[in-house]
Amino acid sequence: MRLEEIDTPALLLDLDVLDRNVRRMAEVVTTTAVLLRPHAKTHKCPLIAHHQIALGAVGVCAAKVSEAEILVNGGIKDILITNEIVGATKLAHLAALAREARIAVCADDPENVQALNDVALDFGIRIPVLVEVNVGGDRCGVGPGEPALTLATQIASSTGLYFAGIQAYYGPAQHIREFERRRTAILGAAEKARRTVELLEANGIHCPCVTGGGTGTYRFEIESGIFTEVQPGSYVFMDLDYGKNVQEDGSVLEDFGQALFVYATVMSRSARDRAILDAGEKAVCVTLGMPQVYGMPDVEYVRASVEHGNLILHDPERVLSIGEKIRLIPGYCDPTVNLFDWYVCIRRGSVEALWPVAARGAVR
Ligand SMILES: Cc1ncc(COP(=O)(O)O)c(C=O)c1O
Repeated sequence: MRLEEIDTPALLLDLDVLDRNVRRMAEVVTTTAVLLRPHAKTHKCPLIAHHQIALGAVGVCAAKVSEAEILVNGGIKDILITNEIVGATKLAHLAALAREARIAVCADDPENVQALNDVALDFGIRIPVLVEVNVGGDRCGVGPGEPALTLATQIASSTGLYFAGIQAYYGPAQHIREFERRRTAILGAAEKARRTVELLEANGIHCPCVTGGGTGTYRFEIESGIFTEVQPGSYVFMDLDYGKNVQEDGSVLEDFGQALFVYATVMSRSARDRAILDAGEKAVCVTLGMPQVYGMPDVEYVRASVEHGNLILHDPERVLSIGEKIRLIPGYCDPTVNLFDWYVCIRRGSVEALWPVAARGAVR
């Protein structure tokens, strides 16, 4: 099939750009002492996870147990769940998976650690647990230093668990636009992680892993010298939001190319300067801003309703006919992927494959 023949809305994945992005990250990280563990919540696809691992990633991250399950079923053997897992049902699910693959998990609460230990003993396994440390994001995580030491001591003395390190992920820093401010935020977070590791070691607890970092900051986590692993996700696809981050030389973040698009059709031309697309909120996530029309700077996607996208044509000369198909660059790639069952994989204008978004809807 040629691109123009694809029915819409569809999630397009440019395989050449995807491949370049995966290689580029692997080249940058694997030439350092830091390990690469990409976040699979971006793509939700074991095929892409295998590609990342084949090029040097040690394993992947997952956000949820159900997401980890899809990855394990797809043959992935080493997964870090970058979240706290709470509740008997989820813990039993986690323990069952941990019989089949290495599944590490984060914790920030003593009762949760106790529950993890109980389920591990029930299942006759040992679960690797990382202490999540709040290094500035104010989401999950215990404070750096003493609070982290207290939880790590509990984990290390639980016979069903072993202490696998700390997670020091700083989410809001990923999207700080200015280079120096982004770098300063991460180097500050890294200091908190360093202080915590030193305190652990001084108390006889070896910290084998310090993990964190995303597409916006992974270079700074590497530069800090304290992180042993980075977990970028969005770099595989990119989106408009990441396209706004500025590099040291003042250019926008250009390490990675735009691989992901939503393909849409013009379904109405109800006014001279207006075109309506068949791709609204059910086809593209607008939480971080409207999508951009690819290759048409004079056409603006101004509003999404549930089923429709409103375009304004700023150039009266612009021809955009009913039935015409256009590409949109999503504002936010991660939740956009979760709206589709399939990637329509294209290479140089033709469809090469269909890949399932296998963990679509795996939010438990
Ligand atoms: C814990 C954690 N690690 C890594 C990432 C990947 O970040 P990004 O997709 O910005 O590269 C995320 C994204 O939200 C995350 O929550």
